[in-house]
Amino acid sequence: MCGIVGYIGRRDVAPLLLEGLQRLEYRGYDSAGIVITGKSGELKTVKAKGRVRELEARIPKRFAGTTGIAHTRWATHGAPSDENAHPHLDADNKVAVVHNGIIDNASELRAKLTADGTVFASETDTEVLAHLIGRAQAETLEKKVSEALRAVEGTYGIAVMHRDFPDRIVVARNGSPVVLGIGEKEMFVASDVAALVAHTRQVVTLGDGEMATLKADDFRTYTTEGSRTTATPTTVEWEAESYDMGGHDTYMHKEIAEQAEAVDRVLRGRIDDRFATVHLGGLNLEPGEARRVRRIKILGCGTSYHAGQIGAQLIEELARIPSDAEPASEFRYRNPVVDPDTLYVAVSQSGETYDVLAAVQELKRKGARVLGVVNVVGSAIAREADGGTYVHAGPEVCVVSTKCFTNTVVAFALLALHLGRIRDLSVSDGKRIIEGLRRLPGQIDEILKTEPEIKKLAREYADAKSMLFIGRVRGYPVAREASLKLKEVSYIHAEAYPASELKHGPLALIEPAMPTVAIVPDDDLLEKNRAALEEIKARSGRILAVAHQVQEKADHTIVVPKNEDELDPILMGIPLQLFAYHTALALGRDIDKPRNLAKSVTVE
Ligand code: AGP
Repeated sequence: MCGIVGYIGRRDVAPLLLEGLQRLEYRGYDSAGIVITGKSGELKTVKAKGRVRELEARIPKRFAGTTGIAHTRWATHGAPSDENAHPHLDADNKVAVVHNGIIDNASELRAKLTADGTVFASETDTEVLAHLIGRAQAETLEKKVSEALRAVEGTYGIAVMHRDFPDRIVVARNGSPVVLGIGEKEMFVASDVAALVAHTRQVVTLGDGEMATLKADDFRTYTTEGSRTTATPTTVEWEAESYDMGGHDTYMHKEIAEQAEAVDRVLRGRIDDRFATVHLGGLNLEPGEARRVRRIKILGCGTSYHAGQIGAQLIEELARIPSDAEPASEFRYRNPVVDPDTLYVAVSQSGETYDVLAAVQELKRKGARVLGVVNVVGSAIAREADGGTYVHAGPEVCVVSTKCFTNTVVAFALLALHLGRIRDLSVSDGKRIIEGLRRLPGQIDEILKTEPEIKKLAREYADAKSMLFIGRVRGYPVAREASLKLKEVSYIHAEAYPASELKHGPLALIEPAMPTVAIVPDDDLLEKNRAALEEIKARSGRILAVAHQVQEKADHTIVVPKNEDELDPILMGIPLQLFAYHTALALGRDIDKPRNLAKSVTVE
């Protein structure tokens, strides 16, 4: 959840680290801090509650150095404050640590250290690590860090500096991402390539249990036990500009606007017209194995879970394999029956979400086959899965997911088509779906052109205290995702219900002050959906419909282009992303960094 960046080389380090922190701020943004090695070898630290700009304002004039580490925080242990901001130092101010993750046995270790006379300066779990490293008996910094890590349980991505070892930064990873950036006589480290790509696209991603020593002109990787590991740098797929706002006012707007291009990318090179199917190179699932799959269980959190719900419907419809989606966070705690004939699919934009990763690890421990549907290449979930497919949405910086949702659903449509064509989906249905997929980018562009209308509607509805979102079958996960979008970015309370459940309770909420957003596709359930609109209107409810034709009972309709019934959910969510965006804008919200949230939830 937090962002880490570090540098060792010849350049003035503070501006580099501040720039890196700005790029990582989406990972956590309640406080930030920086430590550098000063001219006479001392560690110089500045910390500030609030955004990176608050930290920047506090950096003194003379703050020069060529080695440093920095951090932007999303609080877990201890409220956001100057004291709790990272880096944390040991008692002698010799060791500085920045940390992403959670030390589970921190209270126990803190009690022991306190009993031994250590005075703590913060409420964080991370400070425990700084003291442990400071007290370690080993001679080298590498050994001191691994000695300390042996005492801790939990997850970490850490970067450590030590006054007595000014020529190096030592980093370690267990469960929280650490990426090394390899430059010319300079090295970087970060929790995310976003902080590095402006300087180098050559990266090494550490695996769990791995550590690295960075010196200005050299790096080496090894296990926490000290055995050397091989690290071959790879080239980051994305240019530095892909992480910029590109002329938009917010990342959310940029990412909504990029969707036609992103969908085009996930389709590119995968369609096989001859056999009316698609090729998904990394699935590692032979046709015979695919035919033997009896069930599919999709696991994800938040928006990815909603994308998985649509994915499960697509797989059932096209491949006729019973499928469902479940929040990974619930699944892992209910001691689920792990069935050998079930194929598990973990879905995650970041590929880091702790609950999803933990579910994958538990499934693999029990011998299950797990595929990943992931956006971030080389991320923990992608590495842990037996195979899978990337969704190729490109970097998504806004905390609120938009383009990645759309691309994930398209990736599921490809998976469903692939499985369907191995099983019983006919050539003509295969062709029909392929044609539908090909129409998507153009139709997305059409929807995006209606933004001025949607903006007006958003302003009209922005005074609502609460909104209901309804949809039936294919429309229900669309409603759920749209309601999540609205609540996380505008802070308006929103809840989603299957339209069929209205009479069983939520109808009691309907009154003029409680608008309903209804998903009304032109499919075999159109009349049923219209009946729901009648029921709401009869109780003086205001209705905004997203439909393929104007809905008479609705106060307003956003008309979207029609695709194949199975693919309609991909398009119907897009206007509601814009609706959430413009509602939040009208209410003056901090769109890219909603309160209390962070992009990658790497803790439970
Ligand atoms: C999306 O708008 C949310 N902020 C959130 O629900 C997110 O989708 C969820 O935390 C899962 O993240 P992931 O896709 O990176 O695993």
